[in-house]
Amino acid sequence: MKFLREYTKEGLDGKQVLLRVDYNVAFLEQEGKKVISDDYRITSSFESIDYLLANKAKIIILAHFGDPMGIDPALTLEQIYTRLKEKYHDLEFARSFEELGEKFKENKPLILFENIRFFEGEKENSDDFAKKLASFGSLYINDAFGVSHRANASVVAITKCLTSIAGIQMEKELVNLGKVLNNVTHPFVCVVGGAKIGTKVLLINNLLSRADTILVGSGIACPLLRAQGHATGKTIFEAIDENEIKLLFESHKILLPQDLVLKTDKGPTPIKATDLNTISNQEYVILDVGEETIREYTKYIEGAKTIVWNGPLGLFEDPNFKRGSEMIARAIATSHAFKIVGGGETVSLVHDLGLAEKFDFVSTGGGAMISYLSGGKLPGIEALK
Ligand code: 3PG
Repeated sequence: MKFLREYTKEGLDGKQVLLRVDYNVAFLEQEGKKVISDDYRITSSFESIDYLLANKAKIIILAHFGDPMGIDPALTLEQIYTRLKEKYHDLEFARSFEELGEKFKENKPLILFENIRFFEGEKENSDDFAKKLASFGSLYINDAFGVSHRANASVVAITKCLTSIAGIQMEKELVNLGKVLNNVTHPFVCVVGGAKIGTKVLLINNLLSRADTILVGSGIACPLLRAQGHATGKTIFEAIDENEIKLLFESHKILLPQDLVLKTDKGPTPIKATDLNTISNQEYVILDVGEETIREYTKYIEGAKTIVWNGPLGLFEDPNFKRGSEMIARAIATSHAFKIVGGGETVSLVHDLGLAEKFDFVSTGGGAMISYLSGGKLPGIEALK
């Protein structure tokens, strides 16, 4: 695999580059306006862009947003363009291939192309679509680790058409996640939360052979608590296969919350997991881990030499159910372990708490980080080899 940092001015001067990034950021409503809630995925592309501009390359940025079926005005990259233009005043926005063609002929140094998933062929990994894209460049750079688990045309098929290399953020992802994948220092503790266990079972299963302890929280703890015979009230969660659950428990590496915080009609209510069955109306939702769990998980975190964290331990957006995630974030941040955090919500929380600097690495990958650490080969990365 070749890396952008190996290229000097000689190789880049005047080159037309297609730079694939992951700008699939979360938005929130603020005073009736949609604002970017965490721009880490955007800022982490700056190093590659700056490097290319400093070496006089011309750049067309390719990115997706959401998962549109055709053109969807709600998913335009217009707002990303506004954010990027604050830093790159010369940035142009091309809404269609026609506009891209015009700006390309005018030799514009930096162009952001509209949501690449608006175009037929992208999600199908079409060779024809990749060829069309490739006609606008002579070098392709993948700096989009976060979407490299998708076989899309601007991630995979395009590598058949152009010399293809890894960008600076991609290189950092491979180096840092590679330390966990290939050469981990023990004790290795994983903290896995978030709502969807389906996507995390693979990660947990793969980590079972290498991690010493897996601390589980949030929605993904629920099917496991249920399997242990505890009630879970009205909490909505994904079911998982009984055999998978059996394997997880047989490993003796999974720790489940011993106490929880429930949302009830009387407000947030702490409770021991063993008391969940005693609640008569079952009209509650489990939304956070409790104090005893925070204390126990913290002990494991303090003893760890490597920590990977993916997924909050509760509904941290609600101040009533933020404490578990916040205390675990603080415990990880102060530990002396090699520590990595990933996943959109988790990274956003870490930024909100001002703790990002304390981590050895903040991954831009959500699903991609999970797939990569699960030992899976990511199509976008394989295509660069
Ligand atoms: C992500 O947000 O994880 C990546 O941008 C990939 O997005 P996708 O799940 O819509 O393919």
